[in-house]
Amino acid sequence: MYLFEAEIIEKWQLAADIFRLRLRAGEEFIAAGRPGRFVMLAPVGGLYDPLLRRPFGIVRCGDGWFEVVIKAVGKGSRNLVGLPAGAGITVHGPLGNGWPQDESGEQPLILVAGGIGIAAIAPVIFARRAESETFLLYGAATKDELVLLDEFTTHDGRGPQIEVITDDGSCGRRGLVTELLLEKLEEYPGARVFACGPEPMLKGVQKVLRERDIEGWEGWLSLENRMACGFGVCLGCVQKTGSEPETKTSKVCTEGPVFAAGEVIFDD
Ligand SMILES: Cc1cc2nc3c(=O)[nH]c(=O)nc-3n(C[C@H](O)[C@H](O)[C@H](O)COP(=O)(O)OP(=O)(O)OC[C@H]3O[C@@H](n4cnc5c(N)ncnc54)[C@H](O)[C@@H]3O)c2cc1C
Ligand code: FES
Repeated sequence: MYLFEAEIIEKWQLAADIFRLRLRAGEEFIAAGRPGRFVMLAPVGGLYDPLLRRPFGIVRCGDGWFEVVIKAVGKGSRNLVGLPAGAGITVHGPLGNGWPQDESGEQPLILVAGGIGIAAIAPVIFARRAESETFLLYGAATKDELVLLDEFTTHDGRGPQIEVITDDGSCGRRGLVTELLLEKLEEYPGARVFACGPEPMLKGVQKVLRERDIEGWEGWLSLENRMACGFGVCLGCVQKTGSEPETKTSKVCTEGPVFAAGEVIFDD
């Protein structure tokens, strides 16, 4: 893992409170930034208010840069998206385990994103655009919160099959993304499932997978527990995992953020 100051090369506003930042980074960092890993970020010199860096997924990497997509929800994220191009950000990472890889690239993959959870799902899409049978099921409160959609398909038409659902029906169907998941699993019962989004959505995905209980089902959840250090020291991020009565607490920052769906024990 690396700790360095990165210049913001470019910044885009994707929605009222969602921004994409492209940051300069070295080759070794880029090579280690595989899909599902994350970075801890704070403005250069801005580590005291708030006190700690904040975690964000590595959305995309290129030649000498990587991108993050940040939804401004509080002081830490607002400070970051308020920086202009040319400003510096302290970067610690890449951290965490990332999504499991399918060496063959042949198994159908269903990606489930809720809200800003798309930031953890997007790198899988960018890495897999050449593969067939990748499905993106993307839910958000309203159409204004659906971001990056126009970037998932290449100019020559390669990309995932996309279905969108919103709470208010302003884009796609009105409803919850877990409804789309149920339908897609009817068509592709042997598909692997990767999901990231708010905890109620992840609980719903886990329930769908458990209730279907298809032999050999494979689902993975990327958790977004609050984090303080990001590298396994503070225990601020722990999550109950395992299965009763054999349970334990896992550090989301080092043992996750991606866990097998059957392993995670959510609070009731
Ligand atoms: C591994 C990981 C990857 C993440 N990737 C992204 C990403 O790519 N893009 C992105 O926009 N966000 C991402 N997040 C969430 C992001 O880290 C938080 O939104 C951010 O830390 C909030 O800090 P703040 O100072 O702005 O808000 P705070 O002032 O700390 O909190 C403001 C509000 O947001 C809520 N909140 C804070 N953190 C979280 C959280 N982790 N989950 C749910 N609610 C939270 C608080 O309860 C509070 O209501 C990720 C989180 C983790 C753990
Ligand atoms: S954030 Fe400190 S141990 Fe995970």
